[in-house]
Amino acid sequence: MRLYIAAVLLWAVIASEGKAVPSLPNFGSSYHVKGVISLPYAEIKEPFEAWFDLAAKSSRIDYYHGQVSTYQLGAEPQWGVAYKISPETTETEQNLMKCFQINGTADEAVTTQASLPDVQGFQFLRMEYFGGSLCEVWQNVTTVGHKKNTYTLWVTHSERGANSKEDPATPLHYELMGYNTLLGSHYDKYLVDYKEFSLHVDPKGLLPA
Ligand SMILES: *[C@@H]1O[C@H](CO)[C@@H](O)[C@H](O)[C@H]1NC(C)=O
Ligand SMILES: *[C@@H]1O[C@H](CO)[C@@H](O)[C@H](O)[C@H]1NC(C)=O
Repeated sequence: MRLYIAAVLLWAVIASEGKAVPSLPNFGSSYHVKGVISLPYAEIKEPFEAWFDLAAKSSRIDYYHGQVSTYQLGAEPQWGVAYKISPETTETEQNLMKCFQINGTADEAVTTQASLPDVQGFQFLRMEYFGGSLCEVWQNVTTVGHKKNTYTLWVTHSERGANSKEDPATPLHYELMGYNTLLGSHYDKYLVDYKEFSLHVDPKGLLPA
């Protein structure tokens, strides 16, 4: 009898642990999101707005409220095309809008740039309130060279189907201590606050003006 109770208790523990670990966040294959990237040590705050459409092989990231726009159009012949539209100041003109085009090559094709982390390999850490919302906290710790990289992500699931595989998660906050895998930058501490996450991408957003 005692053995049986122990077995039941053990089963209960396993069952509750199994339930406590949610499935990996899924942000869908197309999204529109706004946010602010901060480098606290450098006192930099960079607002951005991003469009991402995997099926169309297209992405766009604007910085500083559209002052600078970058497009990554992977479906353009032959190896994709990237555009950067930004103000330039020359000796004769101030803030002239300039468009730079970069053609992809066989060695370096232009591909979409995600604004949300690839969560493969992230481990569920805990549930925690962040900015008033109950969040799942996910983390990935890796070592590159001799440097430890810690990536921590706070997400919520919408009311409509919590933890369902089809129901994408909403990103709220991301902390990177290490190399910025989103932007390919140097070793530092980065914070990203996400706002206005939506799965609806207006195709016009991905057409260069
Ligand atoms: C990119 O390709 C287009 C069309 O093939 C060409 O007109 C343009 O000069 C190229 N631009 C650069 C910067 O290589
Ligand atoms: C953690 O992230 C790094 C960088 O994105 C990735 O290379 C690595 O595979 C991830 N870790 C695991 C355990 O998947």
